[in-house]
Amino acid sequence: MLSYRHGFHAGNFAEVHKHIVLIMLLEHLRAKQTPFCFVDTHAGAGSYDLRSAFAQKNREFESGYLRVATHAGPPPPVRRYLDLTAQAGTPDPDRPGGLRHYPGSPQLAQALLRPDDRMILMELHNTEAPLLRDLFRDDRRVAVHHRDGYEALPGMVPPCERRGLVLLDPAYELRDEFIRTTEALLAAWRKWPTGIYLVWYPLHRNQPVAAFHRKLVQGGLRKALVSELHVGNSDAPNRLAGSGLLIVNPPWQFETKLVPLSRWLEPVLARGEHAPFQVNWLARE
Ligand SMILES: C[S@@+](CC[C@H](N)C(=O)[O-])C[C@H]1O[C@@H](n2cnc3c(N)ncnc32)[C@H](O)[C@@H]1O
Repeated sequence: MLSYRHGFHAGNFAEVHKHIVLIMLLEHLRAKQTPFCFVDTHAGAGSYDLRSAFAQKNREFESGYLRVATHAGPPPPVRRYLDLTAQAGTPDPDRPGGLRHYPGSPQLAQALLRPDDRMILMELHNTEAPLLRDLFRDDRRVAVHHRDGYEALPGMVPPCERRGLVLLDPAYELRDEFIRTTEALLAAWRKWPTGIYLVWYPLHRNQPVAAFHRKLVQGGLRKALVSELHVGNSDAPNRLAGSGLLIVNPPWQFETKLVPLSRWLEPVLARGEHAPFQVNWLARE
């Protein structure tokens, strides 16, 4: 039984971090004419109503999306993210700069697919999976699978295009999810070592991030870049203190784009006292 509902968190600071980097990577794939495939192992519902009871419970989007959308001088990757969220989502007529529906990773990616590109979405939750299927019913480039993304991923790579990106964006609600993420990533990467992989992970007090990184290195993973944004602890013990991204096979010199991006995002998204952002190689080539 899965209890996590992404609607509580849609548009929060971690989403901003993840979705900006996701868009940057998809833009990189679009720079070449040959088609690519985007695989989202934990796709969610695809679109989130920010006036729903879920989103209104903690109004996490206010300290994420809304802060970024109303802050002066966003750098180009943030401007691109704001343009795409406005294009793929729907505006809030009562709130200038605000959104009524925040687009999830599948809708953002759909906005970047060309006629011959493809997208494979997996979602296990019995409520979210049908919503996702409905949303993409009319798009023949998109396949939606109501199944376990960890289990399915190794069988789905390499895609026939041989170019593409896998997003692993688990909810980390079950105790073994860092382990399952490690195993799924390593199994997929061994079958498709040239694919790009983007893995999101939570940063807060009790998360085994160091062990997660160590196991990936021990597993032989190469060319893996880490981007971490620390926003500071919140009063609620289980609330996120930061957002982590692992990028395997990033485009050339991607780190030189992540540093100025993180420098801009850090003060905009910070809650108070926090650690500095990090951009570093977990494993080089
Ligand atoms: C963090 S959310 C995904 C958000 C989405 N990627 C986005 O950026 O818009 C994680 C999703 O994974 C789903 N989920 C949990 N366990 C799963 C599993 N084993 N396989 C596939 N989906 C799973 C949850 O129901 C939830 O919708």
